[in-house]
Amino acid sequence: MPKKKVQTETTTKPKARTPEEPEKEVKPKAAASKKAAPKKAESVQKKKAPKKAATPKKAAPAPQEEKVPELTVEEFPQLPEQILPQPRRSIAFIGSECYPFVKTGGLGDVMYALPRSLIRQNCDVKVILPRYKCIPWEYQEKMVYRGEFTMNLCSDGRSFYVGIMEYVWDGVVYDFIDNEEFFSSGNPYVNLIDDIPKFCFFSKAALAALNYMDWVPDIIHCHDWQAALVPVYLRTLFEGTPVASAKVMLTIHNLRFQGIYNIPTIRYWSGLPDYVFNKDALKQGYEDANMMKGGITYANMVTTVSYTYAGEIQSPFYGENLDAHLRYHSGKLRGIVNGIDYGTWNSYTDSMLAAPYDITNVLQKKKENKRALQEQLGLVQDDHVFVIGLISRLTDQKGLDLVNEILPSLIDGHTQVVILGTGDWRYENSFRYFEIVYKGSVCSNIMYDEGRAHRIYAGADALLVPSLFEPCGLTQLTAMHYGTIPIVRETGGLRDTVQPYNQFSNDGNGFTFDRYDPGLLLDAINRAKTLYFTNRWCWDEMVQRDMDKDVSWDNSARQYRDLYLELKP
Ligand code: ADP
Ligand code: GLC
Repeated sequence: MPKKKVQTETTTKPKARTPEEPEKEVKPKAAASKKAAPKKAESVQKKKAPKKAATPKKAAPAPQEEKVPELTVEEFPQLPEQILPQPRRSIAFIGSECYPFVKTGGLGDVMYALPRSLIRQNCDVKVILPRYKCIPWEYQEKMVYRGEFTMNLCSDGRSFYVGIMEYVWDGVVYDFIDNEEFFSSGNPYVNLIDDIPKFCFFSKAALAALNYMDWVPDIIHCHDWQAALVPVYLRTLFEGTPVASAKVMLTIHNLRFQGIYNIPTIRYWSGLPDYVFNKDALKQGYEDANMMKGGITYANMVTTVSYTYAGEIQSPFYGENLDAHLRYHSGKLRGIVNGIDYGTWNSYTDSMLAAPYDITNVLQKKKENKRALQEQLGLVQDDHVFVIGLISRLTDQKGLDLVNEILPSLIDGHTQVVILGTGDWRYENSFRYFEIVYKGSVCSNIMYDEGRAHRIYAGADALLVPSLFEPCGLTQLTAMHYGTIPIVRETGGLRDTVQPYNQFSNDGNGFTFDRYDPGLLLDAINRAKTLYFTNRWCWDEMVQRDMDKDVSWDNSARQYRDLYLELKP
């Protein structure tokens, strides 16, 4: 629910300009693509007091002029001005997904939680997203028309309609880039043939929208390959326009996905000048262009989501063929570990749980949640078994080959395994198979279900994250926050966030193993089981220690703010 009004002016608000100023980007095109701009071939002139929304059937009635009301610090009574860190900074987040509008993985969580946390660090945040058709109607209907224009995109001058729909929620301004041709598929990611043009369009439209709205942030913070052309556009086609005064940061959430396609296709759809297709920027190998690589070249700062992953990606094994490029740019590469949103993940107020709990009653209530989970999933109802959860995209990144190898050895009458995920058919099918073979002990939920995820975090004793690589990982953080012990491989953010249990000093947060080896995973699980069954006192202490651990965004948001200040002192 939108509660607060927000200031959309930056601390460095540019002087008023004529609408023609960003003309390279939003110049009216006589021959606007008919399909892309179905309603009208728009002029770049701002529409005063628009009468209808970009998609008239669904959008809320347009407000008068696109002046967004101001948020003053006083409207956050919990944040008196004197305790807010100074100075104020304005940030535009640009990314392809954001909970609760659209989420396929952790990127969606970060795009939701980090802006909210930055607001408490005295940042003014606007989040720019595609207006996918799959965004639930409850949010679509609250969006307000903010304007529209036509934008040149392709190298032959083909231009497209860009609508801006706005939704203000808890102090964060969400601006959705509207274009039915690009964003009408059910899923944000379809295949590269469709996705490359879509995200060229999105990256350029996001910058053009900032110029259009006269909102020039101190920092543009873009995320993953889908927004990696933003730094490239900013320092080429947008040079000389107001938005070019911003510094730009690129965060790599997952280096596996880079947006690689042949040069002619990316050159055509991006409309970028030929000189960016050189080996130091976009060009990869002999004939491909790599959007992530170009973003790394042109960004002022590159971050990734854990300290360890920032080091790993500079090595051939984790570098996904960009290790040398990242080593070259290592001076501007940093790692900041993710957090989780304590509003979304609060076991005490979590309405999806059978028995909400906090650190004082977790030991008792976890049993009730375990029992409810077993009942819901058709598992044998028994308080004394060890329940292992796995909540994951089902891809080879997540170490599922190891799980497949050892799963039969886990089932001993005292252990149950609950899987929740979707992805590669081979993992979906192997987990379905295990459910049939070990009925009552294994439950494979091949689906995406937020509520079920909450109930597994609360009802399981341990959560498995044996990833081959893991930039950060959020599930181990959520598990700890819900008093569920993580069992993880020591890689990326898993290594930075889970301290291995030490039986001699009785400290640590979970069980870990290093080499990617099924035997070592099995050993880690057996160590966990041994503690659980033979030394429950120490196990329970670890449960409480984990719930007490700070895995919120506060600390990391502070580090992002420090980087923003480093870029714009
Ligand atoms: P990744 O981004 O690589 O998928 P993360 O651990 O960073 O991994 O984030 C995954 C997020 O998606 C977590 O919030 C997790 O709870 C959620 N999630 C993953 N699979 C499912 C699912 N099948 N149903 C519900 N939530 C899921
Ligand atoms: C990616 C990574 C995951 C990370 C998430 C959010 O999807 O796979 O490790 O937590 O992004 O940064």
